[in-house]
Amino acid sequence: MVPSETSAGRRRFLKLLAASPLLAYPGLSPRWMEAIGRAQEDAVISSVREALDVFDFETVARKNLLPEHWAYLATGVDDDSTIRANREGFTRYQLRMRPLADFSKLDMSIQLFGTKWNTPIVLCPVASLKGFHTEGEKGVARAAKAKGVLQALSTMTSTPVEEVNKERGEPVWYQLYARDQWSETLKMVKRVEAAGCPALLWTVDLLGGSNRETFRRAQPREGVRAPLCKNCHEGLKKPMYAGLAEQAGGEGGGTTVFTWDDIKRLKDTTQMKLLVKGIQTREDAELAIAHGVDGIVVSNHGGRAGASGRATIESLPEIATGVGRRIPIILDSGIRRGTDIFKALALGATAVGIGRAYVFGLAAFGQEGVEAVLDILRRELQMVMRQTGATSVAKITRASLVDRFDAIPSPASSHSSGNR
Ligand code: FNR
Ligand code: LAC
Repeated sequence: MVPSETSAGRRRFLKLLAASPLLAYPGLSPRWMEAIGRAQEDAVISSVREALDVFDFETVARKNLLPEHWAYLATGVDDDSTIRANREGFTRYQLRMRPLADFSKLDMSIQLFGTKWNTPIVLCPVASLKGFHTEGEKGVARAAKAKGVLQALSTMTSTPVEEVNKERGEPVWYQLYARDQWSETLKMVKRVEAAGCPALLWTVDLLGGSNRETFRRAQPREGVRAPLCKNCHEGLKKPMYAGLAEQAGGEGGGTTVFTWDDIKRLKDTTQMKLLVKGIQTREDAELAIAHGVDGIVVSNHGGRAGASGRATIESLPEIATGVGRRIPIILDSGIRRGTDIFKALALGATAVGIGRAYVFGLAAFGQEGVEAVLDILRRELQMVMRQTGATSVAKITRASLVDRFDAIPSPASSHSSGNR
């Protein structure tokens, strides 16, 4: 039994109570209000051992972070509806349970470009991790090393790639934001190559800009915490920009136009594997292959790029059809549960990326929190693999899913009904 089961049950009840419309009732006595205040305090876990799921870390992260930093983590674009779509998209697919499979030798490992990984879970590039916990990228690297998972490092990292690689014990994958000047982009690429990174993810989904209202609303105004923020941010200059020319349009970039020709141009100048991050349609997946890329990341940047309103899990089927297993597909955006991971793999992803999920763990408890998040997701995935009888990642297929929007939702007639 999970040691914290009873306290977790109580926490959940109190959480419900704290969120109840009763709170708006004018007759509530101060004693009630006090009790509800205590209940809200109580709803927050105080150690990783109490966590039942990824959401338990989210509550702690929110409590620990400055409101401005929380807003940076939480923000989507416009009214944040694409964030919600990412989560809701997973509910479109139901699971077809197949008990009585022999899961004694369950295998969750995957291969990416010839390297074997313990699980199909990849840590997505997330900017400025020291803004969430002093351990920052190094804490994440130690967690990735301890759990044997693939880490991708952001161009906007607050720790230089060389130091992260040392902490990880092997080179990480590197995410690229191209500079205005191609020669400056190449300098950064050469540096990353020299650090031994085997793969580069070029993120393209912010090229048109992104309207992050939740973030902007929470930013300090003049006189409100602003001087403090300024000092801190100036002390945390992005280390991967060291020695590079200033951007014409400031560090936000967004002034330079890049096209598929540039993807090809980069591919032709680096030995690293090149993946394009931010693919959301079949056409672009096919263009990526035509321009020589080695892999794609199906992503809407966790709902913080364009206000598509479309979940990545719902764009995956058309993309997987276009790709036809020619190159690996990593899917991210909205992954919070083992069942989410399972559904992505069933619809054609080779691996999944998590962003906020591990940052919640980091912001809550540092390295230990990231490890706990990875353990929880791994355990949840393992359970659903057992329950569906998909005892290896290769055996996780479309046959395990029902699409609620299918005209005739009867997969048994379109899939083999025998034991796989
Ligand atoms: C990101 N993401 C991101 N992506 C990228 O290519 N470079 C980056 O620097 C960042 N930075 C970043 C910061 C924060 C605070 C968040 C939440 C996200 C996007 C990230 O790699 C990934 O695509 C999403 O986080 C996936 O969605 P979930 O898992 O957060 O729902
Ligand atoms: C973000 C950028 C840095 O999503 O990718 O905030």
